[in-house]
Amino acid sequence: MVTEELLNDGPEVVVFDSLFKGHRAAADRRAKFVEGELMNPGLLPRTLKENSVQAIIHLAAHSLVTASVETPRNITTTTWWAD
Ligand SMILES: NC(=O)c1ccc[n+]([C@@H]2O[C@H](COP(=O)([O-])OP(=O)(O)OC[C@H]3O[C@@H](n4cnc5c(N)ncnc54)[C@H](O)[C@@H]3O)[C@@H](O)[C@H]2O)c1
Repeated sequence: MVTEELLNDGPEVVVFDSLFKGHRAAADRRAKFVEGELMNPGLLPRTLKENSVQAIIHLAAHSLVTASVETPRNITTTTWWAD
């Protein structure tokens, strides 16, 4: 939905997702899709650079609070990435 709204507004969009939980079909086909893990130390920076990314909307997370508390994998990932 976010991707669709952005594309309808004009900018090029790159979707970066590991698909560990999501589905490729859920990402708007007009967007460039990169299958990758946020913790991959090379792929994310390379993707940002190669696509001259100017803004990021970070939605990769466990939407269930209990899952995030029990396995804080994405909290760790986001902290690392923000540094
Ligand atoms: N769904 C809700 O009801 C709800 C409510 C409030 C807030 N949120 C928040 O909105 C955001 C997105 O929610 P959603 O419903 O779209 O969740 P979702 O599970 O449908 O999508 C999250 C996507 O992130 C990807 N992802 C997760 N960890 C990743 C990683 N380390 N590397 C690469 N990709 C990774 C998953 O594969 C998945 O496609 C989350 O931050 C969530 O906490 C969701």
